[in-house]
Amino acid sequence: MKHYFAINDIDSLPEWVEEARAIKTEPRQFESLGKGKTIGLLFFNNSLRTRLSTQKAAMNLGMEVIVMNFGSEGWALEYEDGTIMDQGTSEHIKEAAQVISQYCDVIAIRAFASLADKEKDEAELVLNGFKKYASVPVVNMESSVGHPLQALADAITLSEQNTKSKPKVVLSWAPHPKALPHAVANSFVEMMQRQNADFVITHPEGYDLDKRITKDVQIEYDQNKALENADFVYVKNWSSYSDYGQVLNQDAKWMMTKSKLGHAKFMHCLPVRRNVVVEDAVLDSAQSLVIEQANNRTYAAQVVLKKILSDAD
Ligand code: CP
Repeated sequence: MKHYFAINDIDSLPEWVEEARAIKTEPRQFESLGKGKTIGLLFFNNSLRTRLSTQKAAMNLGMEVIVMNFGSEGWALEYEDGTIMDQGTSEHIKEAAQVISQYCDVIAIRAFASLADKEKDEAELVLNGFKKYASVPVVNMESSVGHPLQALADAITLSEQNTKSKPKVVLSWAPHPKALPHAVANSFVEMMQRQNADFVITHPEGYDLDKRITKDVQIEYDQNKALENADFVYVKNWSSYSDYGQVLNQDAKWMMTKSKLGHAKFMHCLPVRRNVVVEDAVLDSAQSLVIEQANNRTYAAQVVLKKILSDAD
């Protein structure tokens, strides 16, 4: 595997999940694979889990790690070809990507959607710019459109926790005061489309995700109806896709509560706003899987890096 950009780069989700679970039993078992190799983690946006778990995964594989908060420390990059760079940008992606490729054997990038310009966000300028001009593999640590490391960790968590041949899994929108991107929800949907599950998405009207991603997944605007007999409830806020980047609804009735959750397990990618997105009683209960999801971020990243390192040899 050269790059890890999206869920589509996973050739067999069951095999990857099985491999990640095997790595989890002995995380340092492939320590020699990354010896002498360097990964550069470039953050255009904040992070806790992605930053530390990807670093931990790389260290488990014996790699050296360079981390740069590119958004605050790097030069402002230009992505358009032929631009007269007499405005805010100081360095072109062409030079930046080639230069970083000389220092790193793998480049991992976090660059969120602006939520201001749908066309530009969907063009994935940062990720695709690095893919085009870097001479080394590129890993998506959450881009405008997807968060495939999170979704792979979620698949690992589901496989560990599921006891049914066909569980019911609900992706539920929840309120949030800020406009958030669609990346986590998009990748979760794409991952669930590869699972044997009764999968339902619930959200208020106006919050439909990109139909090119949800395809024929059942959408239910009545949250209580969607949650009936759920085994797993994955909660996430996202801003409107049709009215791009707008917050149309902050209705607290959509917050996940213990009574709505019933006997289901609760999932969320974190960070989460307590008592806005989900009430304390859920997060503080044994039904919450959020800490284990975050733990599995390391093994998701590790299986991805292992495949990249193995294919590079
Ligand atoms: N879930 C997730 O990606 O967490 P961070 O934003 O803290 O990396």
